[in-house]
Amino acid sequence: MSYDLDQFIADCRSALEQDPGPAGREKVRLNLERLLKQPDFLARHCSDDTPPGLHVLHDDPQLGFQILAHINEKARVSPPHDHGASWAIYGQAKEYTDMTEWERVDDGADAARAELKPTKKYRLNPGQAGIYQDGAIHSIDYPDNSRFIRVTGTNLDRIRRDSFDLETGKVNRMTPQRAT
Ligand SMILES: [Fe+2]
Repeated sequence: MSYDLDQFIADCRSALEQDPGPAGREKVRLNLERLLKQPDFLARHCSDDTPPGLHVLHDDPQLGFQILAHINEKARVSPPHDHGASWAIYGQAKEYTDMTEWERVDDGADAARAELKPTKKYRLNPGQAGIYQDGAIHSIDYPDNSRFIRVTGTNLDRIRRDSFDLETGKVNRMTPQRAT
């Protein structure tokens, strides 16, 4: 059965209204995987004709979640980062994204420095979505022409987020331009 962006938005709303915690988000993740298998959705929002860049597909006026299409031209390796007080779901549309999840192993006494260790590494292939709960730290590594849909609990440009320099341990405040 076909499934489109409007149905996905309606399902996100009902899942998150019922349970804004991990159970509701898991429904969003599963529905995103379903959406990413729809040829019509991919042709409209993630095709070779889609202009590169970041496209806001939905900004929910009631619940605040966002649906974003990341149409990337060039490969990128991100530093480890969090999504602040928000959660984020990454769903692959084209090519792949290698994900690494990290945890802090320092005692948190120095707010400007952190020591991280990787806890999980895996690849998201087209049709697969991964979830990163509030405060979780991850890094991403993708090739040229990787495209993904991200659903975030809120507009991340409006909240404090950190990225981590693995060599120096320095904690950096993130700018909106480095949204992923
Ligand atoms: Fe991220």
